[in-house]
Parts: sequence; C-alpha cells; structure tokens
Amino acid sequence: MNIARFIALAPLLLSLLFGCIENMPIRHVLVNSPSTNIRVELFSNPEGNLIYKVFHNNQLLIDESQLGFEFTDMPDLRDEMIIVDTSYQNYDGVWELPWGEKKQVVDRYRQMNVWIKELKAPGRMMNIIFRVYDDGIGFRYSFPEQANMQTASISNEITQFKLTSDPTTWWIPGDWDSYEHLYNKTRLSEINAISKRNHGNLGQTYIPENAVNTPVTMRTDKGIHVAIHEANLTDYAGMTLKVDTVGLFFQSSLVGSDNAYKVVRDLPFETPWRTIQIAEQATGLLESDLILNLNEPNSLEDVSWIKPMKYLGIWWQMHIGIYSWHNKGSDHGATTDHTKKLIDFAADNGFGGVLAEGWNTGWGERVAYEDKEGVFDFVTPSFDFDLRQVAEYGKEKGVQLIMHHETNSAPRFYEQQLDTAFSLMQSLGLHTVKSGYVGKILPKGEHHHGQWMVNHYRKVVETAAKYQVAMNVHEPIKDTGIRRTYPNMLSREGLRGQEFNAWSVEGGNPPEHIPSVVFTRMLGGPIDYTPGIFNLTLKPHRSSNRVQTTLAHQLALYVVLYSPVQMAPDLINYYEGHPAFQFVRDVAVDWEETKVLNGEVGDYVTIARKERSSDRWFIGSVTDENARTLAIDLDFLNPEVQYKMTIYTDGEAADFDVNPTDYLIDSYIVNATSGLTLTLARGGGCAIHLEPATAEDMANLRRWL
Ligand code: NOJ
Ligand code: CA
Repeated sequence: MNIARFIALAPLLLSLLFGCIENMPIRHVLVNSPSTNIRVELFSNPEGNLIYKVFHNNQLLIDESQLGFEFTDMPDLRDEMIIVDTSYQNYDGVWELPWGEKKQVVDRYRQMNVWIKELKAPGRMMNIIFRVYDDGIGFRYSFPEQANMQTASISNEITQFKLTSDPTTWWIPGDWDSYEHLYNKTRLSEINAISKRNHGNLGQTYIPENAVNTPVTMRTDKGIHVAIHEANLTDYAGMTLKVDTVGLFFQSSLVGSDNAYKVVRDLPFETPWRTIQIAEQATGLLESDLILNLNEPNSLEDVSWIKPMKYLGIWWQMHIGIYSWHNKGSDHGATTDHTKKLIDFAADNGFGGVLAEGWNTGWGERVAYEDKEGVFDFVTPSFDFDLRQVAEYGKEKGVQLIMHHETNSAPRFYEQQLDTAFSLMQSLGLHTVKSGYVGKILPKGEHHHGQWMVNHYRKVVETAAKYQVAMNVHEPIKDTGIRRTYPNMLSREGLRGQEFNAWSVEGGNPPEHIPSVVFTRMLGGPIDYTPGIFNLTLKPHRSSNRVQTTLAHQLALYVVLYSPVQMAPDLINYYEGHPAFQFVRDVAVDWEETKVLNGEVGDYVTIARKERSSDRWFIGSVTDENARTLAIDLDFLNPEVQYKMTIYTDGEAADFDVNPTDYLIDSYIVNATSGLTLTLARGGGCAIHLEPATAEDMANLRRWL
C-alpha cells in the first residue's frame, strides 16, 4: 500500500481498530457557518446510530437527532454505522434571479461531506452532505454507486428534528393530497393533525397520521424562529413530519402510495435537502435565501420569453356562482365575447394576461370521472370560444390569453396530451398556462405529494419549457425552490387561496391567515393567492360567504404575498371607476430588492419592495383580527430622491367584520429621512406607492411630517 493510500484509509482503519476494542467506533465531526453563528455536529453513538445536533450562537437548538433509512427489501441503515472520512468546502458567490422578489442572491456557506459506512454486512455506503449558512442549514443523503446495493426501495427515511423545548408551532396537517388547510398555532406537544381529518371542502385529502406538512415554523421560548422544509424535491416523495408529542421531535415521514415503498431509486442518487432556517426575528426567515440557494442553477438557456405580469380572468365569477365552467346552459363564462371584453379592460389598465377557465371541452362531463382516465381535452375549444380569434385579438391589444389545463387529477391522461397542448400554445404565441389537479389522483393508489406525482409535476414543467410555456400550478407539489433551475415554474397555489372566501362552508380564511401564510408557506416560494377582491361582502352574488379583510388589506397583498403573476380577480364592474383600483394598476410584479420591515408569525407583517429597473417602491402591511399601529422608517429610499407617496389606508371606521370597504387615499412628499405610522384596522392593511416626485408634485403636495 503506498503512503497516500494509507493516509486516505487511515480514518477507516483507525475506526475499525477502535471498533474491535470498544465494540463500536465513535467519531465526532463538526462544521460552522461562515460567521460561526450556526454549528452542526455529527457523531455515531455506541450503537452506531448517526446523530446530529445544531447550535445557534453556541446554544443547543436541535438536540440529538437520528439519521438513517428503512428499506422494503434489505436491512435498515440506521445502526452500526461509522464515519469513515470527511471533507470540507467553502463557497462565497452571488447569482441572479431572472425574475423574483430580489435580483441578486448571495450564496455563502461552509460544506461538510461525511462518508459513512455500515460496519456489518452488507457494508453499504452512504454520504451525508451538510451545507451551513448564516441563516440555517441544509443536509442531504447521497448514495454512491456500490457493489452491494443497486436500488434503494425506501420504506422510511429516518430524519429527526428534536427540539430543545416545546416551541410554539404554526402547522398544517401532513395531508398527502392537499396543502389547502388553515394554519394552526399550538405548542409542538399539542399538535393534533388527526383532528383535521374532517375537512369539509376538499375532495382530495388524506391525513394518515399525526404529522405536519412543511414549511413548518416554530418559535422557541427564547424567541428563536426555526422553520423546517426541504429544497430541490426531485424524484423523491414529499416529506411530512411525524410528531412525537412526548419526546418533542419531528421525524420525516415520506408520502406514500399503495406500493410498499415510498421512494424507489437506482444508485447513485441524492435525496432532496432537508432544511432548517434559523432567525432571531420572524422577519429574518423571510429574508433567507436558503431554499433557492440549495437548488441547481438555471437550466434553461433563453428565458427572455418568461414575463412577470398582472392578469385578469374568467374565474372568480364561477367561484361566486354567476357563471359556469361548462357550456351546457346559458351561463358559460369563457365565451369569445366575454374574453374579448376582459382583454379590452386588461389593455386599458396595463394588465399582461387574461385567463379563461372553461375554454376547452370536457367541463360538465365529470360524472364518475374517478373511473375514467380523464375527460378534459386541452386542444379543443368549447363551441362558443373561438380560440384563434381570442388569441389574435389579445395579441393585437398586447394582452396574452392565459391557457387553463384542469387535469382533474388524471395525470397520465394529461401526459399523453402535453406535447399537443403545449405546441398549440406555442403556435398561438401563448406563453403561460394555469394548471390544476382537483380530485383524487388517477392512477388510483397515488397521492398528490408522492414520488410518482413529484415526477409528473416535474415532467410537465420540463416539457412546458421546451415549448416556451411558463406554469402557474394549482393543487401543486409544494414549492422547494425549483424555480431557480426552471424559471418557467412561475407560481403555484398550494395553500388555502382566496377561492375559499367564495365558497368555504367554514366561512373562508380568517384575518390571521395571511400573516401565518407569509411566515410558513411563503418560505417555499411564490403564491398565486389571487388578491384584490373589492366587493368584499360578495353581495348580491353569494350572501353566505364574504372576504374577512378590509379593502386596504386586499391592496397590500399585492406586495406582501410574492408572485411574479398576480391576478386582479374581481368582476371588472367593481374595479371600473373605483379610486383604489389605481393601486392595482400601478403595483409592480418584478422586484430588485425586498425589505421586511416588521412582522410576527400569525399577527402582522410589513414588506417593502423596489421595482426592477425603476426608482419605484411599494409597501404592503397587513394585520390579523387585531387593530394595530406600526411605525416604519423609509431609510431604504434613495437619499438623493424626493418621492411622491400615495397611501391607501383603512378609514377610521374600517373593520373587516362590520365595515370592510372604508378606506382613504392620500398623497404626500417623503424622503429617506421620513418615518410613517401605519394605522391598521381589525383585519386591515395599508398599501403604499412611492415614486420620484415631479416638479408639479413638489409644488402641490404636502410634505409628510
Ligand atoms: C381549483 C383551483 O384552485 C381553482 O383556481 C380553479 O378555478 C378550479 N380548480 C377549477 O380548475
Ligand atoms: Ca385550489
């Protein structure tokens, strides 16, 4: 054996020697974040279990937590394991998002690669890679090619997250088919996901155990904020977190199917990253880029065709019951004339797109669809919808028709039509599609968040990219940051959206929904929530439901909830001539930078965003059911510039419950030294537009004092 090889194998030999003496080797390795505020330690205990711990500012944050796997057809990989070797890397770089809530992303971490070997037969090998940032950690398992294992048929991944206290936790149940649940706030020890099984609204919902979906956000008694999620979910099942309410830990529980395995992969392969974001303030979680940083760089060459935009649609009309998706009666929404009317309104008000749900055939033929492969046709328009004429009319007016593909959760049937559907779009010059997966998945036995569907959702995004089509997916797989790799993955639902306010039997989304969503679901990425309902009581269309926010809160959502595609969903007659609609017209959708000015999970949040390639800033602030006063500084503004501020606030009598439409609009001159006091009503909000002041503004407007 030459000397270099001896040195390379020394740790293994020492471990084996140590193992003979002590029965099992123990080796401890660690890695610090670049500024050393976060430290991860890994060791194998006397049983050979792999254990990691996380420290934040030298305080234990994640206590001894196990790592490993169970398989359907071979022994577990969770004990009698030794650490064979480690290597370390540093990285410090900056990359650019083609569109986003910011332009430049700093990627700065220390990485520790740990080689693990099973001591007993069959002596399998596995690596664990830890990437430690100043705002949290990511780690993933990597299975190298090896003689004793060709395929991993995983029945369970054993990744534990053991908290050192009983944190306050904001969670939704670990549903295998839907994320469309309200957030619950309890201690970790009080999580009871099973109690959410009787979910009134959803056809697709399956909560097999006491588990939560990610991102799940916690606040420890010391006030540290921790969010667990995953990044780059590729060819693997989504991870829910099973709760041990006594031991106070989460353990990964992968979404399964009718198969014995939850994931099957040929070696070599890597799992998605398991992520722990850590911040002293809740606002710090929103400023973290950890999830995006843990995804692969842009894989698409030309992305010039991917354009952020605001859009209108034939959509809310169906949800509040005044039009229908199907063409069986006289109330079909997606007709040629109706869509052209919306295109006119879009063109007049600077919107980039119009969605027309119900444009295609198949609607109204859903009877017993569970037994069919699928009923929707993604190329044949309804008899009263002239697709070519509408697309052409839109083109003349500078407005794109947004296509709609409701798959009814028949993904195999959809896959058969993908190429024809997307090439039709390409031939018409249409670059955006909204898709949907309502109902239980066909083939039976699969779930929305399992490996089979993860692969389906990815196949659609990849195929769409070939035809220059960008996606806005409803009933999606959760966002784990793949928009970095596939910038045509624009936005998605994956939460209880505005639609629940139209028809939820439980009365819609309470005011605390948004401040909860911002610090949980939004850590994953863009949200197609469809803000901007002006007729908040829904009268006379649907008197049993209403939107539980004020009007100013609806405006603020365009800034608070990030999405590169933002809808103005209400009927255009509620927008026409309404002074507050000016904010929806003005607000930007693509941002140079984002500042989170204040916020607490589930209570309130204020976010400022600067438009790309302009000097315009927008601020959105929303509160839960409590009125509040929030002081903010405008010190992020360009100090050389005087700004005209147009502020849309709750009126004095505003209240989400009794007076949602009371609002005020005012304009002032402000600059970087100005401070504002925002007064938010119960369920209220505030929306602000800041633009460089003209000489006329300077002469006519009061200076904010
Ligand atoms: C559910 C989606 O969330 C909604 O936006 C859409 O209108 C319906 N499915 C019909 O496709
Ligand atoms: Ca939905």
